[in-house]
Amino acid sequence: GLPPTIDQILCATPTGATVQVRGWVRSVRKQKSRAFIHLFDGSNLAGVQVLLEDSSLVQNLAITTGASVEVTGQLVNSPGKEQAKEIHGQAVCTIGTCNADSYPLQKKHHSVEFLRTIVHLRPRTKTFNALMRIRNHAANGLQRYLQDQAFVQVHTPIFTTHDCEGGGEVFRVTSNSTLTAPTGHDKGGSDTNKAEFFDQPVYTTVSGQLHAEVMASAFTRVYTFNPTFRAEPSLTYRHLAEFWMLETELAFIDSLEPLLSLAESMLRSTTKTLLDTLTPELDHFAQWVVSKKATVPLADRWRALTDQPFARISYSDAIAVLQAYETKHPKTFEVPAVWGQDLRHEHERFLCEQYFKGPVFVLDFPAAIKAFYMKPNPPSSSGLTAASVDLLVPGSGELMGGSLREHDPLCLEQRLVQAGLSPVDYSWYMDLRRFGPAPHGGFGLGFDRYVQAITGLESIRDVMPFARYYGHCQF
Ligand code: 4AD
Ligand code: MG
Repeated sequence: GLPPTIDQILCATPTGATVQVRGWVRSVRKQKSRAFIHLFDGSNLAGVQVLLEDSSLVQNLAITTGASVEVTGQLVNSPGKEQAKEIHGQAVCTIGTCNADSYPLQKKHHSVEFLRTIVHLRPRTKTFNALMRIRNHAANGLQRYLQDQAFVQVHTPIFTTHDCEGGGEVFRVTSNSTLTAPTGHDKGGSDTNKAEFFDQPVYTTVSGQLHAEVMASAFTRVYTFNPTFRAEPSLTYRHLAEFWMLETELAFIDSLEPLLSLAESMLRSTTKTLLDTLTPELDHFAQWVVSKKATVPLADRWRALTDQPFARISYSDAIAVLQAYETKHPKTFEVPAVWGQDLRHEHERFLCEQYFKGPVFVLDFPAAIKAFYMKPNPPSSSGLTAASVDLLVPGSGELMGGSLREHDPLCLEQRLVQAGLSPVDYSWYMDLRRFGPAPHGGFGLGFDRYVQAITGLESIRDVMPFARYYGHCQF
């Protein structure tokens, strides 16, 4: 089998046993007759402490911070407060050396800005260890929740010809191929379609939703979890050019209610599991990393995501709340809220952090500012709205967006035309409405924003291991 990880050894091996671990050196502390090596392999947050008491071992010890090493020794109960078990080393050998003088990670606090300049080495820091373990568990937790609810994971494409959100924030992909005619016809089978892809540019997807709708029209409950791309020329703390989105799509729903309860229980359950299983990782963020500008303490954010019911307010009422506050406290907002315009980030933060002090669903946005696929509500006195929802959470603002989809073919055709899109290009999408249409809807959750909200990291750039954003695409 595989050699056990440090975590497996600490959790499952009886004390007294001889063990062998491999990992990287976080620190070495040498005294006269003893030495302490702090070793990590990424399988737990704390790593393991190795104590050397053999004087010849200590004298000949040549390892440095950053080196990869193999330690053989005895697992014992630790007298120290920091750890339950440690290893009494009997042999230490270097696997790969590391020049400690030029190694950028020293035993001191490094700023997140500095760490961004060494993206290839920062995974070895404790903070990144904690972050990646949280990402891993969060991605699993969200998907496990959906799997338990009988959702089918569907694989939606990255290359597409459609700008789902209609925002024009697409990256165009062109081929670098110099081939004029494809080869290997015999192997690929005959395909008589006229060539377009490779000759014609396509986009990298801004959302898997339209393809998820295809799959929901056959599997009822589906989700897709993919990288998504937005060419937004914005340098904010919550926008990436490449981010992960978890999108659900459900057939046979005719109100937003099932989407709200699904989103709420999925987030509540995942966050609870995270708090139970990754206590040291989350505490690390609460103690060491949380942004000084954070208006809501992390523990309160976690509580709000797990304990209290998410608040709900209509877009129209939210505008009224924002306007009333602005009247009482002029100059609260840089730009006052106006019915018919999208909520600004400052409005979102006010609503979830100050007004509701926790997650809040904002419902029924004006149809005119929303994508063509959203189903308009029956006309009301305040103006035409669509059956849409945004979930706002402290720390990241908009975490999720969803809607009911227009499933009437004639109304959809009208919406397409109004949006300046050609129904011919969307004939496949129209077919879903022609052949056994089912009322349906779904939402997309910004995975990196969820991790941002949970960890309290100020910038989403530090949440993504290899962040791509305007002006930045390091290797
Ligand atoms: O609100 P958005 O644009 O909604 C959609 O794309 C829908 N098609 C989803 C659906 O209904 N299936 O994006 C969904 C979420 C946002 O709420 C936000 O959390 C995140 O994706 N998001 C971003 N995250 C990081 N960087 C960006 N540039 C983001 N743009 C959106
Ligand atoms: Mg949105």
